[in-house]
Amino acid sequence: MNDKVKLDLSLAKELLQEKDINQLLPYLSHAQKNIIERSGLGNEFLGWVDLPERMLNDKKFFSELEEIKNEIKNNNVDTLVMIGIGGSYMGTRAIIEALRYYLPYESLPIVYLGHHLEAAYIEKQLKILENSNYYTIVISKSGTTTEPAIAFRLIREQMKNKYGEQYSKRVITITDEKKGALRKLSVEEGYRSFIVPDNVGGRYSVLSPVGLVPLYLAGIDINELLSGANSQRSDIFIDDWSENAAFQYVTTRHLAYQKGKPIEMLTSFYPSLFYLAEWWKQLYGESEGKNNLGILPVSAMFTTDLHSLGQYIQDGLRVFFETIISLENQFNTLTIPSSRDVDDGMEFLANKRISEINQIAESATAIAHHDGGVPVIKISIPYMSVYYLGKLLYFFEYACALSGYCFGINPFDQPGVEAYKNNMYALLGKPGYEELAMQLKEKINNL
Ligand code: PA5
Repeated sequence: MNDKVKLDLSLAKELLQEKDINQLLPYLSHAQKNIIERSGLGNEFLGWVDLPERMLNDKKFFSELEEIKNEIKNNNVDTLVMIGIGGSYMGTRAIIEALRYYLPYESLPIVYLGHHLEAAYIEKQLKILENSNYYTIVISKSGTTTEPAIAFRLIREQMKNKYGEQYSKRVITITDEKKGALRKLSVEEGYRSFIVPDNVGGRYSVLSPVGLVPLYLAGIDINELLSGANSQRSDIFIDDWSENAAFQYVTTRHLAYQKGKPIEMLTSFYPSLFYLAEWWKQLYGESEGKNNLGILPVSAMFTTDLHSLGQYIQDGLRVFFETIISLENQFNTLTIPSSRDVDDGMEFLANKRISEINQIAESATAIAHHDGGVPVIKISIPYMSVYYLGKLLYFFEYACALSGYCFGINPFDQPGVEAYKNNMYALLGKPGYEELAMQLKEKINNL
């Protein structure tokens, strides 16, 4: 079995003229050099590069985690509350959901809060939590993000009522080492706390305590996750296009972009990867979408979305390419029974495995989409496991950094997300935003 994240470009060959690849090669090599030598734009955020190795060797981190996990077990905790948004949320959920149907055991349920402001959802979760025995993990690098701050206020109040003075023993924070309101509160209230490394940005932080703490406490083998990521890291040092899957992925994306396809649709026939696609969208969207450049990342889960977006993908405006995330092997043996008494014309499927039908659906769809003018990239891992998910995360992180550098932008900042936040603060009456509030109100009145 091939151990690598594998790329199949046979349905995207039309994009890959030798001269076009050659034209991109120097950019890729330069981008790679920027990453290895920490010399490119935003190089103060390249801490993710050797994060897997650093975390694997952090014995203190693992022993602290084990202690908390034992305590959770001894206290018969039945739920984890995880508060965070964006990079402080997506990675954990991606891994938990991807493995949900593939682990031979149940991981500890997680209630997610702080990732949006829908009051009905928040209220319902708080109600359910009244009768749960839970610990709360609050994650915010800045410690000042609105959504998690609101969620933590609510949870903290409930925990104080429910657990009294002892509530603080049930709160774990993950935040900046020195700065921010959450660090201050952690010190004042005596919460147990982990650090978001300074040199790792939110969307690159899943393999830091941001992702590792909740994953470990939920029951995921983070050693395997990190080992997978660490083994994928060797690709960073390969300067040979034909051997480096990330080079090939980035080249294909950029050539699609140059040829009038500025949208990438990430798809999978494994809807367990829904949140992995959400994580990927955040990673690529926030990293590349700046200076009026970048590929728009969108996603769809099949076969479900073949019954909704399928028509557009096959026949609509030809402005996108597709990247399918696939599994080389599935071990599920669920088989369709023979039902000769049912006249639905499906008896030809009797005794076939569902997993086999799904694989055939994938091949059939990929060919149909390609025939309809959509270049299709296929990225596969040998099978669904925490180890291979680790590889996939690292593959996408590395490729994203390469791709951003090939666009000539800083892949590690996100200046654009401040615009809505400032407007929101102004309209909500945050001190210091009075002038902007006046301008916005005037705009609203003139709409
Ligand atoms: O990738 C990013 O930097 C963002 O998505 C952040 O992770 C997100 O805004 C949450 O920020 P914080 O962890 O500071 O609350």
